[in-house]
Amino acid sequence: MNEFVYWNPVKWIFGKDTVNQLRSNVAFYGENILLVYGGGSMKKSGLYDIVLKELQGFNITELSGVEPNPRLTTVKRGAELCRENNVEFILAVGGGSVIDCAKAVAAAAKFDGEPWDLVTRKAPVEDAIPFGTILTLAATASEMNSGSVITNWETNEKLGWGSPHVFPKFSICDPFWTTTVPRDQTTYGIVDMMTHMLEQYFHNADQTDVQDRMIEGTLKTIVEIGPKLMSDLQNEKLRETIMFAGTIGLNGMLQMGYKGDWATHNIEHAVSAIYDIPHGGGLAILFPNWMEHTIDVKPERFKQLSVRVFEIDPEGKTDKEAGMEGIKALRDFWTSIEAPVRLSDYDIDDSRIDEMAEKTLFNGPFGHFTNLDRDDVKAILRASL
Ligand code: NZQ
Ligand code: ZN
Repeated sequence: MNEFVYWNPVKWIFGKDTVNQLRSNVAFYGENILLVYGGGSMKKSGLYDIVLKELQGFNITELSGVEPNPRLTTVKRGAELCRENNVEFILAVGGGSVIDCAKAVAAAAKFDGEPWDLVTRKAPVEDAIPFGTILTLAATASEMNSGSVITNWETNEKLGWGSPHVFPKFSICDPFWTTTVPRDQTTYGIVDMMTHMLEQYFHNADQTDVQDRMIEGTLKTIVEIGPKLMSDLQNEKLRETIMFAGTIGLNGMLQMGYKGDWATHNIEHAVSAIYDIPHGGGLAILFPNWMEHTIDVKPERFKQLSVRVFEIDPEGKTDKEAGMEGIKALRDFWTSIEAPVRLSDYDIDDSRIDEMAEKTLFNGPFGHFTNLDRDDVKAILRASL
């Protein structure tokens, strides 16, 4: 393992009826609140009314209509609302997109320059309005990390950024409010959280036996209950397990002592920046192809995943053969929960492969398990068509 410092100040409030803890957690920060939400799912589910009731007596300004793959233009609108209304606290209610947008609004409102410079890291984040979240979709773990992903449609860029200033003060995670998540978004959420764990699993540090088993155990649990959830979407118990897994997947706990790979996330962001596809859908297509492309780097790691998560019998097989069976098992699992398999499922052809490869190389060759250059990225994209 490498040396590490783990610091995560998010108050994680988990379980049934925890939305009734909203008022007491917001009370510290002042009277003026910006409520950030998406396209209306929270109104449909009834959560909106409950939140407003909890916040009676506060001055509420709303930033609604945050898009999946949230946009810079919306961030700017939010920052203006904060300034105009002297906002002291932001409450994000939604999935990763709403939370990521709220993080960017929180930082942009305290910044005099162009908000995109914070995302590109041209300017440092030095302050942010405090904010909390109510999570309604299990997937990204944005509720318990300090990362955010914003899309700039003027430049066709979708970039991740982060700062210790944008850890949520608290996140309320009541699985009940995820029971309305539709089938396709449930699938994307499962794929996303699994890919977070897999991206972390492929690293080059040693002595990570505990971290390995934590990831393998969580993946195995998802493989076990994912299909049950797909045939019983309103099951609160199953939603509870998935919600817990999603947060653990990327709240930093699993990545202690090493750096995960993260190349596939980088490539997916480039695909989404041009085609605006759902993040989890893109990952389901790309990640198995990344695995096939890189298996020779350390076949024994792929074999370990195959045996421990997918119960592949390694008897009489080389590490690579056993590893390839694991990749197939992962693909089959994602197909069984209705994830897309090829970029053509989103009508994406080979016409913009060069452009996507350029975008992924924004900061040069990347990937920690193994470094990918332009040719590697193109090969993975071609294999995904
Ligand atoms: O907009 P509303 O009406 O809320 O509908 C949303 C949206 O259409 C809907 N939804 C959310 N909760 C619901 C619900 N529908 C019914 N019932 C509910 N309870 O689901 C749709 C998708 O929501 P979105 O927030 O976009 O999904 P997700 O949580 O998967 O977030 C994806 C975004 O997060 C970024 C992705 O790149 C993408 O932009 N990521 C953020 C990360 C982070 N901050 O750490 C890491 C991830 O790897 C990822 O890159
Ligand atoms: Zn992700």
